[in-house]
Amino acid sequence: MADDYPLQEQTPDSLMLFGFWYRALASEKIRRNQLQATMLLEQSLVIGRDGEGKPFALRNACPHRGMPLSYGQFDGQQVECPYHGWKFDAHSGQCTLIPSLVAEQKIKMDRIYAGSYPCEERDGFIWVFIPDPSPAGAGFTKAAPAPVPAPQIPKFSERYKLAYLTADLPCSVDHGIIGLMDPAHGPFVHQAWWWRTRHSIHEKTKNFEPIPFGFRMSAHTPSSNSAPYKLLRLYAKADSITTTIDFVLPNLRSEVIRAGKYWFSSLTTVTPITRNQCRIDVVAAWNLFRWMPFGATLLKFVFAKFVEQDRRTMEIQSEGLKHNPHLMLIDDADRPAKWYFALKAAMLDMKKNGGEFRHPVTGPVTLRWRS
Ligand code: FES
Ligand SMILES: [Fe+2]
Repeated sequence: MADDYPLQEQTPDSLMLFGFWYRALASEKIRRNQLQATMLLEQSLVIGRDGEGKPFALRNACPHRGMPLSYGQFDGQQVECPYHGWKFDAHSGQCTLIPSLVAEQKIKMDRIYAGSYPCEERDGFIWVFIPDPSPAGAGFTKAAPAPVPAPQIPKFSERYKLAYLTADLPCSVDHGIIGLMDPAHGPFVHQAWWWRTRHSIHEKTKNFEPIPFGFRMSAHTPSSNSAPYKLLRLYAKADSITTTIDFVLPNLRSEVIRAGKYWFSSLTTVTPITRNQCRIDVVAAWNLFRWMPFGATLLKFVFAKFVEQDRRTMEIQSEGLKHNPHLMLIDDADRPAKWYFALKAAMLDMKKNGGEFRHPVTGPVTLRWRS
């Protein structure tokens, strides 16, 4: 089982965190009775949906001789390996049939498992829990349940709309994440006449505080220099608009904007696919503009533009990173990135040595930068 889990032979900045939920696939990408191969944290998975629509995730390798199960037949309950026809229960991975056995051969079939992963569907995505590496030799037993439910988008009313965007990024998960939390690239990467130009750059002061396994940019009134916020204030007839942005390990950025009874909430994740490839998924929920037929389309357009600008930037950046240049993080604009690396180091330390999580942010901090 040496290839069960990826070897962690990589620079510290591209280590992937095990023992967390990750977004695997958009719900709409997989229908009932279907299988689909996918990869998370360098582990090859097969995701499927049973006859009732419930999703599941198995290791995409038959425990017999490693055939990818994604090439097999699936009847809505059991996955059949295409090589020797062994069958496995889709949810537990338990072996239910070995066709080559004759009556006297008493191999204990029910002790054989195709590796399976906890799997949940939330806010339009299928999430998979990737456990910490088990001791060598393990992996042929029933999967342990996940210690916590999969994350979900904060919502503030019964009715809302939901939309998502996805983009592959040709960089390590760390560059993806620090790109996401970096305030200083805005005026240079995200220019648009309806948003802002580089001339609108000005000094900002933001308050941060520690939260469990992460940090929060405390509720604040967003930049007044952008037209959409001015519109929003008029539309919501709200005196104040507040934005709260949280980052929580391993890869969750949630942003909540509230204006009176209206709200807009998003949960963005950057998911490691391999050590030098990741994927960004932005999922947003809102009760704003519900009456507007083009509300969702418009929002999607705005977000798609931002995400594409970021994706393109990281694509170009990866050309520079190929040659392993020396890098630096500066204060205060890169402080959130420094916290991210420190949080990750504290998490790895806790996993390795046990004990409490030593939070690198010990109290409220005010950061200043120009953007
Ligand atoms: S490899 Fe799957 S049944 Fe033999
Ligand atoms: Fe950006």
